[in-house]
Amino acid sequence: MSDYEFYKDRSKKILSEKRFIHSVNVSVASEKLAVRYEADVDKAKIAGLLHDICKEMNEETLTKLLSEADFEIFNAFKGYPLKLYHGPAGAVYLQKEFGIDDKEILNAVCFHTTGHANMTTMEKIVFVADYISEERPFDNLSELQALALKNIDLVVLKKCETTIEKFKGTTIPVHPYTLDTYNDIKRPATKSQ
Ligand SMILES: [Fe+2]
Ligand SMILES: [Fe+2]
Repeated sequence: MSDYEFYKDRSKKILSEKRFIHSVNVSVASEKLAVRYEADVDKAKIAGLLHDICKEMNEETLTKLLSEADFEIFNAFKGYPLKLYHGPAGAVYLQKEFGIDDKEILNAVCFHTTGHANMTTMEKIVFVADYISEERPFDNLSELQALALKNIDLVVLKKCETTIEKFKGTTIPVHPYTLDTYNDIKRPATKSQ
């Protein structure tokens, strides 16, 4: 059994059916993007498959896992909406419970919701794959999927814009890493115009 099949079996036991289907779809989208952007396809498939491994865990578990993340990550996420914890908590969990030590995979899981400045190709792949996975209810889903294969940065921006727009006028803060991601990609594009 390949690592991928092993992780698929294990995650199926942890996730709800809906979340498992989403995870497999994100894995498929990650694979396509990895081929296109010449990233490690096996790692992208695994990171996509496992990115939401902690999504359905309770507050106590998420808080405990986050407290085991490195100090910088812990500080960056602590106090922000609990919903955001599942990225860094997932990275800790996969290291502890799945024995995954690969930094490319762990960081792609850690930052799949917020992004951060200077994202690696692998991080962008999972960040975007999560946004364009096959079951997403967007009217323009096929356009977004095509755009991701043309210029992944433009879809990174769109995901950030969707998040910023969603919380506009609410009391929920946009995580600074999401704003960093947005500004980081926007800046060189603006400079070259
Ligand atoms: Fe997620
Ligand atoms: Fe997801």
